[in-house]
Amino acid sequence: MAIDLRSDTLTRPTPAMRRAMADAEVGDDLYREDPTTKRLEAAVAERFGHQAALFVPSGTMGNQICLRLAAAPGTGCLAHEDNHLLWHEGGAGARLSGIQFHTLSGPRGLVDPQALRARVRTAEYGVPTSAIAVEQTHNRGGGAVWPLETLAAVRGVADGAGLHLHCDGARIWNAHVAAGVPLERYGALFDSLSVCFSKGLAAPVGSAVIGDRDLIERARDERGLLGGGMRQSGVLAAAALVALEGMVDRLAEDHANARRTAETVASAVPGSVQLDAVQTNMVMLHAGAFGTDAPGLVKRLADLEVLAGATAPDQVRLVFHYEVSAGDADQAARAIVAAAG
Ligand SMILES: Cc1ncc(COP(=O)(O)O)c(C=O)c1O
Repeated sequence: MAIDLRSDTLTRPTPAMRRAMADAEVGDDLYREDPTTKRLEAAVAERFGHQAALFVPSGTMGNQICLRLAAAPGTGCLAHEDNHLLWHEGGAGARLSGIQFHTLSGPRGLVDPQALRARVRTAEYGVPTSAIAVEQTHNRGGGAVWPLETLAAVRGVADGAGLHLHCDGARIWNAHVAAGVPLERYGALFDSLSVCFSKGLAAPVGSAVIGDRDLIERARDERGLLGGGMRQSGVLAAAALVALEGMVDRLAEDHANARRTAETVASAVPGSVQLDAVQTNMVMLHAGAFGTDAPGLVKRLADLEVLAGATAPDQVRLVFHYEVSAGDADQAARAIVAAAG
């Protein structure tokens, strides 16, 4: 069977999740009567040291709810040009919320805090800045981790200019495990976070918006507007609770598999991997080092029973996750080396 390294979203619910889903105590969550959803929301808020959280169907909805709370129509949000918010959310910031992105560049999805400060605009310039959005870890940046000190400096910029600071924390768990930074240290830096249970943590569905009590009350209203209110959501929250309680620490195995694969490929195929960029569960391959482009390399890998995705004309992404064992990773590394011919 092919080894599927296209995404950590491919992970299917574990047996413990399926049992928890079957046994979940449920009620109507729009009446605030679903005990399992409430338990998940309290647990995830506590992990990040915040007052409250709201279970939402997807990371996209979590981000968009936060964006709508962070920035009024006709105002701007500063973000790296490669953020998920800009690439993969249907242009919702503009289409649904009238928010203009002021984009910045920087290595692997990270932005220099001084550059952010320099881009803040006030009303006299036409589109006043109201928010900053960062992504931890950075997906298109190859799973890069924002260092805590850099985030603290970004917090300083936000405070200095009175801006809302949002974190797309779809994979913040990976940053926590890789950098050894407690989740509540991250939580303390942001006015809002959106975190996903459905990526490397292997839950089938679900994300949470996290913030103070007032923000979460307003998030509930925005979730309703976007059609994200759920009824017996405890069936899904039960799996997310198993993810939160039992699947975070094991991400270290995915990181180790990514690193070992990257080291094998880098030493056999010169120029194929920038090793110091491999920080969590992703490895970016430079297709040119294999004598082809990204679609060509994806095809060669598929022929060798390794599935991967092209993320740029010359870049292929490998994502390591719960359904890829250490043995699978070694087998994939041999296939990737063979793809160089
Ligand atoms: C960084 C990041 N943010 C947000 C999302 C959106 O999550 P969802 O697919 O649940 O909408 C993803 C999805 O892969 C992501 O990688």
